[in-house]
Amino acid sequence: MHRAVIDHRSAEFAKLGSEILENLRPIFQTTGPVVIYPASGTGAWEAAIVNTLSPGDRVLMFETGHFSQLWQQLAERFGLRVDYVPGNWRSGVSAAEVASRLADDDRHTYKAVMVVHNETSTGVTSGIAEIRQAMNRSHHPALLMVDTISSLGSIDYRHDEWEVDVTVAGSQKGLMLPPGLSFNAISQKALAANKSAKLPRSYWDWQEMLGPNRNGYFPTTPATTLLYGLKEALAMLQEEGLNHVFRRHDRHAQATRAAVRTWGLEIVCEDPREYSSAVTAVFMPQGHDADRLRSIILENFDMSLGAGLSKLAGKVFRIGHLGSFNDLMLAGTLSGVEMGLRLAGVPHQAGGVTAALQSLAPVETPASAGR
Ligand SMILES: Cc1ncc(COP(=O)(O)O)c(C=O)c1O
Repeated sequence: MHRAVIDHRSAEFAKLGSEILENLRPIFQTTGPVVIYPASGTGAWEAAIVNTLSPGDRVLMFETGHFSQLWQQLAERFGLRVDYVPGNWRSGVSAAEVASRLADDDRHTYKAVMVVHNETSTGVTSGIAEIRQAMNRSHHPALLMVDTISSLGSIDYRHDEWEVDVTVAGSQKGLMLPPGLSFNAISQKALAANKSAKLPRSYWDWQEMLGPNRNGYFPTTPATTLLYGLKEALAMLQEEGLNHVFRRHDRHAQATRAAVRTWGLEIVCEDPREYSSAVTAVFMPQGHDADRLRSIILENFDMSLGAGLSKLAGKVFRIGHLGSFNDLMLAGTLSGVEMGLRLAGVPHQAGGVTAALQSLAPVETPASAGR
């Protein structure tokens, strides 16, 4: 990324831009357009809303954790009427709940269903395929918008197959880049909604983007150095193969859970079908402060764990295992946590790291080797 910034109106830039815009599509598992904004993920949340909806539109959202709450607040600031289905921050969106809410809406007042795929604050995923099936079964025309900020490129996600209308993503997680780029993958139905959507927009307007994008250009000054990095990130994901990338994160998440269980600590996610392969959130035992543990680990081992956010502050720490991550990095991470638990005097059983290593490199018995 540390290369000279080329002229963004040059033929050389157009080649870079076209290549990236094309190679991004398979990461979202779409053949449709993906737009890139120089912005953090929040920008792409806003873009999804202002490009498809009108003031006063009713939308359905679900309380899965800190990030669903922030997206809800953003939607309300735009004058949308949000029905925010309460949740306990330990489970994902229930497809049955989606079905029942939509069944009650026979006049089709909901214009969008908005879901966070991987709730980064809790390590809980929501079943987007099941939510789409529930929407289709109720023949409801609402758009489906999905936040994949912490799942894209780490957890299997299929924009086209799951008929998602707007996918929201960011650069700083599975794409392994610094913060600063965000994305909307856009369905044909969302493009049609864009034509009649009345929310004011200028910088975020898809049409402003899509025109110049056809030739590999951007309407404003692009974040060229981040695009250099994105080009390489896409090449890395393609080289490894997306399925392999997903399996790698699944293995790391499984090994992390083996460690957590051995320590005798509780995983925030209640339902094994909703475990996140990108991040594992862990409850501290009663009376022990997660932030004290985090600062002991930071001071002693120079390792920064994720904090508990908003109502989970001090109660939870989070182990990230997304992006460019391998077995040895995970082993080091879990060793840091186990040593930190010891130093902080947090009651736990030793042996979590050993359980994780066993999960990563299971000993083959003669019987299993022959299979
Ligand atoms: C699931 C999710 N949504 C939205 C955001 C907000 O993105 P940003 O902080 O890049 O604006 C984050 C940030 O971590 C996130 O994890």
